[in-house]
Amino acid sequence: MTNDVLIIGGGIIGLACGLELKLRGANVTVLSRDFTAAASHAAAGMLAPEAENITHEPMLSLCRRSRNLYLNWTEKLAELTGEKDVNNTGYWPCGILAPVYQQPQNTGDRKAHWLNKDTINQYQPGLGQDVVGGWWYPEDGQVDNRALIKVLRTAAESEGIIFQEGVTVEAISQQQGKVIGVQTNIGLFRADHYLLTAGAWVNQLLPLAVRPRKGQMLSLRVPDCLNELPLTRVLFGEGIYIVPRRNRSIIIGATNEDVGFTAYNTPVGIQSLLQSAIRLYPQLENYPLQELWWGFRPATSDELPILGASHCPNLTLATGHYRNGILLAPVTATLIADLICEQKTDPLLPNFHYSRFSAVSSTTTSMAINSTVTNTNINSVNKLENKSFCDIYTPPRLSDLNIQDSPLIIAGKSFSSRLMTGTGKYRSIREMQQSVENSGCQIVTVAVRRVQTNAPGHEGLGEALDWSKIWMLPNTAGCQTAEEAIRVARLGREMAKLLGQEDNNFVKLEVIPDPKYLLPDPIGTLQAAEQLVKEGFAVLPYINADPMLAKRLEEVGCATVMPLAAPIGSGQGLKTTANIRIIIENAKIPVVVDAGIGAPSQAAEAMELGADALLINSAIALAENAPAMAYAMNLATVAGRIAYLSGRMPIKEYASASSPVTGTITG
Ligand code: GLY
Repeated sequence: MTNDVLIIGGGIIGLACGLELKLRGANVTVLSRDFTAAASHAAAGMLAPEAENITHEPMLSLCRRSRNLYLNWTEKLAELTGEKDVNNTGYWPCGILAPVYQQPQNTGDRKAHWLNKDTINQYQPGLGQDVVGGWWYPEDGQVDNRALIKVLRTAAESEGIIFQEGVTVEAISQQQGKVIGVQTNIGLFRADHYLLTAGAWVNQLLPLAVRPRKGQMLSLRVPDCLNELPLTRVLFGEGIYIVPRRNRSIIIGATNEDVGFTAYNTPVGIQSLLQSAIRLYPQLENYPLQELWWGFRPATSDELPILGASHCPNLTLATGHYRNGILLAPVTATLIADLICEQKTDPLLPNFHYSRFSAVSSTTTSMAINSTVTNTNINSVNKLENKSFCDIYTPPRLSDLNIQDSPLIIAGKSFSSRLMTGTGKYRSIREMQQSVENSGCQIVTVAVRRVQTNAPGHEGLGEALDWSKIWMLPNTAGCQTAEEAIRVARLGREMAKLLGQEDNNFVKLEVIPDPKYLLPDPIGTLQAAEQLVKEGFAVLPYINADPMLAKRLEEVGCATVMPLAAPIGSGQGLKTTANIRIIIENAKIPVVVDAGIGAPSQAAEAMELGADALLINSAIALAENAPAMAYAMNLATVAGRIAYLSGRMPIKEYASASSPVTGTITG
């Protein structure tokens, strides 16, 4: 039996799970950053698996099961809070009516009842004249979500759950595959088991595929002059719902906007809600406005929640409930408590496991040098007419060339390829995959922030590359300060772990306050590097080509230095040659030339200088034929390395004839 459970997230899911765990004997602490910001407050409280038209099985089963638990659950809550009013949560199995404006082709659905125009108007007078009929879902209903969450919190606290409000969790510390504590703004919390219920904010802590989906809402009041409630059931229209409460409020929702955590109600959002609501139920146009608000649903890409075990045995996940957090609270609490307290996995649970977002694809990667000079994988390079050099060329082995090379070693890990690439700026995932493959790289850098926000080109990265073959180099792109970079580095480590790279402690450190030139901040970089090294990271800092800074970073324990050739994405080539030469001359750690390389000739040039490796992204991704350019960069890196090992001829001031001048035939 697990004794102490620490729950991260104080919304309805965290509280419902916490209470259930407490009732089964656990000591529970709930950490909440801002109770009022939870999506649970913003919701309308519909219990609507049918009206929401959830067709995905087993999601539909999960939702129906939860709806069926509601009566007992809310009664139990009333009992726990010592309330005489058994309905202090506003639970109301009022059914949901879904009027439509177009006659559907098939009206024989089993769980819904089709009502023709006359019937629906008798059942609910006052509907808009465009309504031609509608569906009646008798088993759906509603709960007053704000009342519910208050009751839940009271019940939780009266049962002895410690609820800590105003606590921001900054990181989840892990060691040897287990969570060992949670770092917060007020100190470290430890427990036997941890439950992550942080809703739309969850991927600030773990790289889970959850992002905010904003919903704007408003409420009206039934005018005092009306004695009877004009609406006694939820109206679920097209893109609009109207939820009448017994306390005379009428909730109207909701927009569904993919705008990140952008706050505020907008005129256009509210206008569209009011227009649709008035079309559906015209008399609302004269009702007094009561309140406007917004919230952030935690949305996964398949719109299903993430429930159950995580990559650590003492960390459980319950998040990503998207439009159905209120509905799914009781069943989530039951399944999660079964899992944590009794190690019982409900047959529904595996369908909601987080790993569905990180299944590895069969993409294979070719390595540029592995004792052979190059692996000429040209399948995805431009089709070449007839036979070309690429078709017929069989590269010699390094050993045949009388060259001794050792692998690239970074923080004790050995790599045969000396070219690293990235995943940004590609026109398609397929192009990125082909380019990574043709580049022969073994290290791919990934912007943690862009993965978190599912920025274009960063969706599904978990599946897009074969992370059992490619070493992930999480980077802190987008961080302007040392503090931000440290936080994002910690997330990056979790991201790599989730993708199966348990021992990956690499981070490409970027601290870039200036958006125009994208030049790194040397002081912030050094500060962040010192801290991250202390935390056990292998730090690969991106820096200006400053030999003194490179030295200092080496002294604080960085694994490499990554001086820029020219500004990021500029393709200008080697503009910092003299300084890079000094850095290479003095460094005892690998020097990776990063940023600014625009063409294979420049890649080769950097390698000829003696750079240990290169990182090239834009020059590949923005080439007209990116997969072909990736291959060219692969060859150029290898060529530059071999040239460096071969010892170039000295530069002479004057011409020196290629043919001997003695023994020539004269006259
Ligand atoms: N549950 C309805 C919504 O999320 O808008």
